[in-house]
Amino acid sequence: MLLPTGFWVTCPSFSTIYFLFVIFVVSVIFHCHQRLAQVPSPWAHSAHVVLVPTHLAQEGLFTINAIGRLGNQMGEYATLYALAKMNGRPAFIPPRMHSTLAPIFRITLPVLHSSTASRIPWQNYYLNDWMEEEYRHIPGKYVRLMGYPCSWTFYHHLRQEILQEFTLHDHVREEAQMFLRALQAKWAWQVTFVGVHVRRGDYVRVMPKVWKGVLADRGYLRQAMDWFRARYHTPVFVVTSDDMAWCRKSISSSLGDVMFAGNGIQGSPAKDFALLTQCNHSIITVGTFGIWAAYLVGGNTVYLANFTLPDSPFHMVFRPQAAFLPEWVGIAADLGQAPQNGP
Ligand SMILES: *[C@@H]1O[C@H](CO)[C@@H](O)[C@H](O)[C@H]1NC(C)=O
Ligand SMILES: *[C@@H]1O[C@H](CO)[C@@H](O)[C@H](O)[C@H]1NC(C)=O
Repeated sequence: MLLPTGFWVTCPSFSTIYFLFVIFVVSVIFHCHQRLAQVPSPWAHSAHVVLVPTHLAQEGLFTINAIGRLGNQMGEYATLYALAKMNGRPAFIPPRMHSTLAPIFRITLPVLHSSTASRIPWQNYYLNDWMEEEYRHIPGKYVRLMGYPCSWTFYHHLRQEILQEFTLHDHVREEAQMFLRALQAKWAWQVTFVGVHVRRGDYVRVMPKVWKGVLADRGYLRQAMDWFRARYHTPVFVVTSDDMAWCRKSISSSLGDVMFAGNGIQGSPAKDFALLTQCNHSIITVGTFGIWAAYLVGGNTVYLANFTLPDSPFHMVFRPQAAFLPEWVGIAADLGQAPQNGP
């Protein structure tokens, strides 16, 4: 069809090439068809976008809501990863989650395009912030997990895979390392970096008003730092926060071992997060951002414990044993400033 028949006679080797070409075309068509007919394995592809809902996996699929900021979305991602695997379903993330996490981490779960997602008959499945036995057998084909899960009880058995998913991109890690190398250069011997995350922002209002609780105060931060000063020869505290002004005012740097990230000017959450993960140990206050940084670092972690009053509604949605690893060291908050009455 493509070549004059005379060619076949004058150039016999060409028939072989033609034959191979036909085989090639047929196999390409066959493989393309196959790829469209099934959802690709989510454990192997990066950011694979599925566009054709009629070809979605017969065995169903799992996704999760993408709500909150970096720490929350990391918790949602890891929970989806673990629960989908436990239930033997492929997992897909919403585009919003991809745009939050992919610029920082080498995540591998594929993305479900929103125009596809909107045509799927989802069953919403609400999660507590801790693992439950029933989550091993979640019913339904197209399941959208809902909530703000951020608990090691979902995914700690897959710790290595979760660490792999949240590996920093090289350029993100290198920027954090450059900052730490510059600090290290001030000492003639090896120092121990302790990342400090001081979460304030909207919590300054929400914690007392909604949760009947307190934030980390100077007393807690001093005690937490003293915990490391008592155990390491030269700890160097690298402070990150969404309220650097408060930190510069409240954390004494008179011992010369406290460094404020970005020279005390607030950095982006991604930069702060990367910096915390490159330190050797962690001091955290409240929120999932700090919990994730500490989880990825894997060193010693000091956290703020018991920061809400006993009658706080926080206890209905939050279990400390499911949020903080057993080996982490809690320092009880000073509840003296907590609102004692009224909702
Ligand atoms: C502590 O962290 C720094 C910066 O990431 C790293 O170079 C160093 O090897 C770490 N030290 C230990 C003992 O892991
Ligand atoms: C927090 O409160 C619980 C219950 O009262 C207690 O068992 C635990 O020791 C407290 N944690 C810290 C770090 O004080």
